[in-house]
Amino acid sequence: MVSFTFAAPGQVVFGAGRAAELPRLVGGLGASPFVLTGSAPERSRALLESLGSPAFHRTPHEPTLQDVRDAVAAARDHGADVVVGIGGGSVIDAAKAVAALAATGADPLDHIEVIGRGQRLPAASLPCVAVPTTAGTGAEMTANAVLASPEHGVKASLRDTAMLPRVALVDPLLTVDCPPAVTAASGMDAVTQCLEPFVSLHANPLTDGFCREGLRRAGTALRRAFADGSDLEARTGMALCAALSGLALANAKLGAVHGFAGPLGGMIDAPHGAICAALLPAVCRVNVRALRERDPSNPALTRYEVAGELLTGVFGLHPLLGWVEDAVAEFRIPSLRDLGLTDALIDEACAKARAASSMAGNPIRLTDDELREILITAL
Ligand SMILES: NC(=O)c1ccc[n+]([C@@H]2O[C@H](COP(=O)([O-])OP(=O)(O)OC[C@H]3O[C@@H](n4cnc5c(N)ncnc54)[C@H](O)[C@@H]3O)[C@@H](O)[C@H]2O)c1
Repeated sequence: MVSFTFAAPGQVVFGAGRAAELPRLVGGLGASPFVLTGSAPERSRALLESLGSPAFHRTPHEPTLQDVRDAVAAARDHGADVVVGIGGGSVIDAAKAVAALAATGADPLDHIEVIGRGQRLPAASLPCVAVPTTAGTGAEMTANAVLASPEHGVKASLRDTAMLPRVALVDPLLTVDCPPAVTAASGMDAVTQCLEPFVSLHANPLTDGFCREGLRRAGTALRRAFADGSDLEARTGMALCAALSGLALANAKLGAVHGFAGPLGGMIDAPHGAICAALLPAVCRVNVRALRERDPSNPALTRYEVAGELLTGVFGLHPLLGWVEDAVAEFRIPSLRDLGLTDALIDEACAKARAASSMAGNPIRLTDDELREILITAL
C-alpha cells in the first residue's frame, strides 16, 4: 500500500536571472521586510538595493539559539511583516526560525527538538522568502531550521510545516561565486540528501523521483561546478539537485550520515557539508553490510545499486562507492579528525547520534559497534 504525506513551499521560482523577481515576490507578502544575509552582505548588495535597502541582519556562521534570539528581537523592533533569507543554508535556517518566532517573540528553546521543551511552534508566523546562494542544503524547501546550542553541544531542529518558506526563489547565478571548497562541501550535502531519502524507511514514490533526478544531475554537475565555478549549466544542475534534495529529505527523512552530522556539528567547528561528505563512504559500506546480514530482502540494497547507476551510468554498489570516494578525494574533503573530532569524543558522538531525529530514516537500525565503526573509519 502506498500512503504518504507531502509538504512543500508555497511557491518555487527557479531559474538563472529569476532573483530579479525578489521585490515583486516580497512586496506581495508584506510592506516591511526584514532580511537576513551571511557574513558578507556586500555579496547581496544588488538584491538588498532592489528591496529598497531594507533592515538587514547578518548571520556570520551556522546559527545558534542566541543568534536567532538576537535576530528575532531585531525583527520585532523593526516591525517586520515578512522575513527574507539571502545566503547559504545557515542564513536560510536563521530566516525560517526568525519568521516562525518573530510574531510572538517565543524562545527557540521552548520548541526545538531533542534539547527543547517540546512545545508546538506558535500558529502565527511571518511569511518567509528563501533565496539560497549555495547549492547544498535545500533548506529553501524544508520545514525545519537547524540551530546550534553550544551549551548542549548539539545542533537540533525547530520543525513545523508552518516553517515551510512561502516562496523558494532559487537562482543558480547566485551560486557562481561560491569558492570550490564551499561548492564541494555543500554539493556533497545535496548528494547525501538525495541518497539518504532514496534508501530511507520513509521513501515514497514522489520523493523517489526527486532523489533519482537529483542524483542524476549531481553525477556530472558537481565535478564540473567544482572545476569551473562559472559553468552555469553545472551550477543549474547543482541548484536543482539541492532543491530536490530538500523536497526529498523533508518528506522521506534522512539516515545515519545526518544522524551523526547533527550532533557532530554541535561538537566540532566544521562545515556541515564536509562532515556529511567525510561520513558518507563509511555509512554506505556499513549500512549495506548490515542490510545483507540482517535484512537481505530490504529494497534499500537494490536502491544503493540504482544510486550508483544514477551517479555514474553503471548499476551497482561499487560504482556508487567509487563515485563517492573519488569525489571526497578530488574535492580534498578533510577526514573527521582533520575537521576536529578526537578519539575522546567518539562515545559521546555515538550516543547523541543514536538519539538524533535524522537517524529515523536509516534503512536499518545500526548497532552501537556499527556506529563506532562508522566514526572510526571516517576519522
Ligand atoms: N533546514 C534544512 O533543511 C537543512 C538541511 C541541511 C543543512 N542545513 C544547515 O545548513 C547549514 C549549512 O549551510 P551551507 O552548507 O549552505 O553553508 P553556509 O550557509 O554555512 O555557508 C558556507 C560558507 O559559504 C559562504 N557563502 C554562501 N554563499 C556564497 C556565495 N554565493 N559565494 C561565496 N560564498 C558564499 C558563506 O558566507 C559561508 O562562509 C548548516 O547549519 C546545516 O545544519 C539545513
